[in-house]
This record gives sequence, C-alpha cells and structure tokens, in this order.
Amino acid sequence: MAKKLSPPEIMRNLAIGYWVSRLVYVAAKLKLADLLKGGSRTVEDLAAAADVQPAALYRLLRALASVGIFAETKGRRFKLTPLAATLKTGVPDSMHAWTVMVNEPWMWDSWNALDHGVKTGEMPFRKAHGVPFFQFLEQHPEDMKVFGESMSSLSKVENPAIAAAYTFPKNATLVDVAGGHGSLLAAILKANPRLQGVLFDQPGVIARAEKDQHVTAKGIARRCRLESGNFFEAVPTGGDAYIMKYILHDWNDEECVKILSNCRAAMNEKGKVLVVDAVVSPGNDPSWGKLLDIQMLIIGGRERTKAEFAALFAAAGLKLTRVVPTKCALSIVEGVRA
Ligand SMILES: C[S@@+](CC[C@H](N)C(=O)[O-])C[C@H]1O[C@@H](n2cnc3c(N)ncnc32)[C@H](O)[C@@H]1O
Repeated sequence: MAKKLSPPEIMRNLAIGYWVSRLVYVAAKLKLADLLKGGSRTVEDLAAAADVQPAALYRLLRALASVGIFAETKGRRFKLTPLAATLKTGVPDSMHAWTVMVNEPWMWDSWNALDHGVKTGEMPFRKAHGVPFFQFLEQHPEDMKVFGESMSSLSKVENPAIAAAYTFPKNATLVDVAGGHGSLLAAILKANPRLQGVLFDQPGVIARAEKDQHVTAKGIARRCRLESGNFFEAVPTGGDAYIMKYILHDWNDEECVKILSNCRAAMNEKGKVLVVDAVVSPGNDPSWGKLLDIQMLIIGGRERTKAEFAALFAAAGLKLTRVVPTKCALSIVEGVRA
C-alpha cells in the first residue's frame, strides 16, 4: 500500500507540478506516443526514431512512467499506457494538442507574469506579449492553429455531454457564436437531425473550419452555414438559439455584456442564449473551473458563479432561466429576453 504522505511531502510534490508538465510537453512535441503505437520499443530504437539522445530519453521516459505515463518493460523497452495513449495524434480522445498548447513558450511567458497580474491587476498575457490573447493569436497563425486544435481536443469529451444534456428546439436555427472549428455545432447537429446551424467566428478561424472534418461531414454540411465577423460588432441574425462555449470566460464583464447584447439584438423574438462555461460553485471541492479561472485571469477573463451570470444577463436585457448541468465540468446557462 502506498505510504500516506505528510503535508510537507504533499507540498513538495504540488510545487513541482510543472516538472511533470514539462515532461509531458517534451513527450508530446517528440510524438513519442505515435512512435509507440505499433507496440513496445527499446529506448535506443525510439531515440533514433525521434532523433534524440538515448540516455536522456531513457531518464525522461522513466520519470514519466513513475506517474503512469508510458511503462518500462524488460530490456529498457517502453510501451504505451492508457494515459500515454492520450498523447497520440489523430485519435478521438487525443489530448496531444491541448498538452502542447498549454506548455508552449508563449503560454509559459504569460504565466510567468501571474505575480505581476496579482500585484497590479493588469492582464499577465498583455504584460508578457504587449497585446491581448486573441490579437496575439491573430498575429501568429501557427499558434492560432495549435490553439484551435487544443480546443478541439477538450471538445471530444465535452461535446457529447453538452449535446445530450439539452433539448434543442426542432426545425430551428442554432448559431454557434465563436464556435471555433465547429466540433460542438457538428455534434449537436448530428444529435438533432431537424436543426440547422450557423458557425460564426473570426475570418482566419472560419477559413480553417471550412476545410475541417466537422462541418464538412456527411449529413452536417448541408445543414450548416459558415459566417465570419467580430462578435463585438454583430452576430448572425435570425437564430432561435445562440450557443457560446468557452467564450464569456475569455472576457471581462463589460465585454461579455456587449457580446450578449449583440446576441439579444440578433435573435428571434423567442430566442435563447445558451452560455456553456464552468459555473463556479461554493466550497473547497476539487474544481476544474477554479483552476481554469486562473488561466482566464492570465488572459483577462474569468469563470463565474450563477449569480455573476445572472448579473451579466440582466445588464444585457436578458433573464437567466436555468442552469442545466452536463456530464462534463461545464454547464449550460440559459437565458431569454427579459
Ligand atoms: C476559447 S475559444 C472557444 C472556441 C469554441 N467555442 C470551443 O469551445 O471550442 C474562443 C473563440 O473565440 C473566437 N473569438 C475571439 N474573439 C472573437 C471576436 N471578436 N469575434 C468572433 N470570435 C472571436 C476565437 O477565434 C475562438 O475560436
């Protein structure tokens, strides 16, 4: 049985959380999981395939194996474990893009400015890069691509849970506001054959979505229209429901009220807004939302409580009707015209 750790030992381990994230990042960048998908390999063979030093690679893999990512077998061979398998690319439950994105140097630089943000209230990302997050991504198309793929990695688990949790209207139009590559919209359209969809995002993102597998899939493409624009100016008109996943958490209250007001102005009379975010609950239980909130602090946004969502809705002329939980860490916050 594992020894129960003392508080100082637990703190020692928590404080080096980034050691593990660096190891996982290097493994993901080297695509070690892909190189092992045919079965176990010796460290020398793997090092040659990855073009790295075998001695250092052995130590990297041994450390990863100590936390359940890869496993060492006889003869200095390594194989995949279920956790390591999530680092494969191009598989349905891949976390490869997410692992890369949250560890890229540009993301680390912004986390390095967290103490500055806590002291001054300034946005750490801007302190590190001189511009806000989404402007930075627009200026760096390769990083934008990695970011888009990382959101799709998270979505693989979340989308089916969201699609299953809510009864979407029939013979209606659902607008996915800032829907990225369209994976959520495609999942909802697949589950609701009588629903039409509009995927809306920034021009660069829509250009990529047009070629992506999600909205071009059989049975989805003919029910899905793509539009680009800026949600601070306007969103597509005539929708019966406006869904936005991981959007309001990116922005401050004033910016959120602008986005919600634009949805209110664009939607049909009985239209609904469906905000999909982590709704912060009281108490000290482990919480994805409370940690994600710090990533949002870095980029100038925040995760919110139900009361904070209700206040945003009211300021945009909307009324919060209910919060629908899902089987993932996100909830659907529903609103109608007040
Ligand atoms: C955190 S991602 C969420 C994407 C998607 N909803 C998902 O859950 O995977 C935020 C999205 O907001 C889009 N976005 C940022 N600023 C925008 C703007 N001014 N107008 C429209 N879309 C914007 C980004 O391009 C990005 O796709």
